[in-house]
Amino acid sequence: MCGIQGITARRSFRWKIVQWVVAALAYLDYRGYDSCGVAALVNGKWVWLKRVGDSAVLKSALSKTRWLSCLVLGHTRWATQGMVTDRNAHPHFSGHVAVVHNGNLTNADRLRTWLKGMGYVFLSETDTEAIAHLVHYYYQKIGNLRRAVQLAIKDLEGDYAILLASAMEPQVLVAARNNPPLLIGLGDGFNIVSSDARGIIALTRNIIYLVEGDVAEVTPEEVLIFNQRGRRVNRKIYVSLESLGALNKGRYSHFMQKEIHQQPQALRNTIQPVLQRGFSPTLFGKRARKIFGRLDSILIIACGTSYNAGCVMKRRIESVAEVPVRVEIATQYHPILSASPHELVVVISQSGETHDTKEAIKRARAAGHKYVLAICNVPESSIPRASSLIFYTQAGMEVGVASTKAFTAQLAALIILAYTIAKVKKRLSRTDETSALESLRKLPLAARRTLALEPEVQAWARCIVRRRSALFLGMGSFYPVAQEGALKLKEISYIHAEALAAGELKHGSLALVNKRFPVVVSAPSEEFLRDTVLGMKEVNARGGKLYVITDKASNLVASKNIRVIYLPKHDPLHAAVLQTILMQVLSYWAAVMLKRNVDKPRNLAKSVTVS
Ligand code: G6P
Repeated sequence: MCGIQGITARRSFRWKIVQWVVAALAYLDYRGYDSCGVAALVNGKWVWLKRVGDSAVLKSALSKTRWLSCLVLGHTRWATQGMVTDRNAHPHFSGHVAVVHNGNLTNADRLRTWLKGMGYVFLSETDTEAIAHLVHYYYQKIGNLRRAVQLAIKDLEGDYAILLASAMEPQVLVAARNNPPLLIGLGDGFNIVSSDARGIIALTRNIIYLVEGDVAEVTPEEVLIFNQRGRRVNRKIYVSLESLGALNKGRYSHFMQKEIHQQPQALRNTIQPVLQRGFSPTLFGKRARKIFGRLDSILIIACGTSYNAGCVMKRRIESVAEVPVRVEIATQYHPILSASPHELVVVISQSGETHDTKEAIKRARAAGHKYVLAICNVPESSIPRASSLIFYTQAGMEVGVASTKAFTAQLAALIILAYTIAKVKKRLSRTDETSALESLRKLPLAARRTLALEPEVQAWARCIVRRRSALFLGMGSFYPVAQEGALKLKEISYIHAEALAAGELKHGSLALVNKRFPVVVSAPSEEFLRDTVLGMKEVNARGGKLYVITDKASNLVASKNIRVIYLPKHDPLHAAVLQTILMQVLSYWAAVMLKRNVDKPRNLAKSVTVS
């Protein structure tokens, strides 16, 4: 997945366009940050700069140039085809044609062979360069960029959002999409094409979302859109309400640290509407009362951290709403049986753009699912737009690639969902509703008190960074908490980490444990504590080092090779949120101590818009 940005503007804007594009790239970095580039048409010729690194690297490299241009393309890359090098960074060129691309072509090798046969020379290893040559090839035949793109995309297989420009048509941008999103921002005297609303809203709030198969021809004054069949169409103009959020770390060293500490506020904002309105189905959309009233089961679909949120809350939803819940990893979800018409699909996604999750929604619909509820943190993103019901978590913009505040806000959203379904189904008494609301009200404060334990966790991190591997244990709902803890640790510190249901330890993974082997345990005093403690004993007997997050009621105490942190007094229903917060803090400090790129860990991206 990559970030795409392009602006075509009237001459009077020529001083600003390069800066505008580069400024927007800082907001698109989260789509990939291994390399980036910008190309500007200056006096009829393409000039460009490409760099390995994120948009900040590009910005500083550009500081000595002053390109006056009305046609500029920009790109942030997450490598799919071709190594991370300056040469493979976008834009790519073929004579007068320039292109930036987000996606993955599946027939790139065939196209390359054919184009080489036609005399084209490839300078990069990317699939994208084949698009540049292909469009150039058709342009030579018909002399029009939009029509050349319309012909070229017929030869493309796989996913793409592409943005092209030609030095022969100095005011024109041509955009085309097949799967990954592409948006057009309508300005006064300029127009923008971006992979993302964040690339647009600093300059204009009027946005058109291209539909799959669309090709758009964009000039400073006009936007012409053609559908899959080549017919001129009008697409609705939305007024974006999204807010950019400040791209500054404030008093923190990293966005992740800031976002960890923003969790009490993120939880408060997510819970606030419920505290005001009670567990009202209208929080999820107009049709929610009817849909919740009829549902007989829930299927949660998500990826990564969002998947872990679903797993953590599965049992809670089942016990509160009294409906069975399944949780599926989006890529693993390939239904064989047709869907029950009364099963609600709940899709969880921080970004709302994850390709794998979007594909899973299509498979769910094909299997016969009628209703999809999106739990999402980014307004106006693709997944909520494709869903029947929406609940927006109010975590605010999350910049760090490792999800923190969005995750705990998702947990809060799922708690709210559970009680709302129970209420609609008349399974929630007045007294229970009041006590559930009271419990939710206390959650932000509990999160704040938990964060005060940071110095103790920091001391644990100092020990864990000396090891190359760690295990995380939990039971019941706390096994997925352990999974989230392990995911956090490995993704930002690169220490290998694996989570286990404590009872599973003896069935294989115990072989890993030797003296001082670190095992982080999520051990709240709940129904499975006994099994968790048995797992701990097995580790202890082999000299492993236990790092236990628990509460006073568990009666667990520190001893040789057992370190214990007690969560502050809290409602037991909040344990998963609070346990996770400490695991985030642990990973954060481990990554800092190992001098990792905390906010932009290697090989990852925040929004994964390719398969
Ligand atoms: C990427 C991110 C993860 C995230 C996952 C799902 O891999 O790096 O942090 O959990 O995508 O993303 P979503 O936006 O759908 O929650």
